[in-house]
Amino acid sequence: MQVVKKITALETYIVRQEVLRKGKPIETCHFNGDDATTTTHFGLFENENIIGVVSVFKTNSLLFSEKTQFQIRGMAVLENFQSKGYGEQLLKAAENFCWQEKAHLIWFNAREKAVSFYKKSGYTVLGDSFNIPDVGIHFVMFKKN
Ligand SMILES: CC(C)(COP(=O)(O)OP(=O)(O)OC[C@H]1O[C@@H](n2cnc3c(N)ncnc32)[C@H](O)[C@@H]1OP(=O)(O)O)[C@@H](O)C(=O)NCCC(=O)NCCS
Repeated sequence: MQVVKKITALETYIVRQEVLRKGKPIETCHFNGDDATTTTHFGLFENENIIGVVSVFKTNSLLFSEKTQFQIRGMAVLENFQSKGYGEQLLKAAENFCWQEKAHLIWFNAREKAVSFYKKSGYTVLGDSFNIPDVGIHFVMFKKN
């Protein structure tokens, strides 16, 4: 059975490292703002084992004019558990949290490979791709409430 729970920043690192920072030191798994009181982390657990993570930051992007914006970051599902609907489950949990917090808009920088995953959940691409050094090509994506 799977369950989504709120977790600490530290608890996200094991999954972030394996999926998003493979072969890189654990320090690279810390994101600016991880420990802010306005940041919330979620973990998806199967039989007490963490298999996926996502984080929600209360960060506005200058690309949008909406007053209350949240940024989704660090979306990751362990490789052996991918393509089973867990990513969608985590994304839904993060999104529901944002709407409960009265978000007008959710945005994030999506890896090129994940764009169609987010499109399936109703997110839209804004503008052209851009490169994040060491990570790769990204697109800004968003959804309005
Ligand atoms: C992207 C990621 C979080 C998706 O999680 P997941 O558990 O594999 O995805 P799900 O099984 O919930 O997929 C939901 C839907 O999106 C589709 N999908 C998932 N990954 C996809 C991809 N990379 N490209 C296209 N479609 C994808 C699935 O086919 C599924 O569609 P369906 O419901 O029609 O079958 C996960 O694959 C992952 O951690 N990837 C590596 C890290 C990464 O890219 N993170 C995102 C950073 S922006």
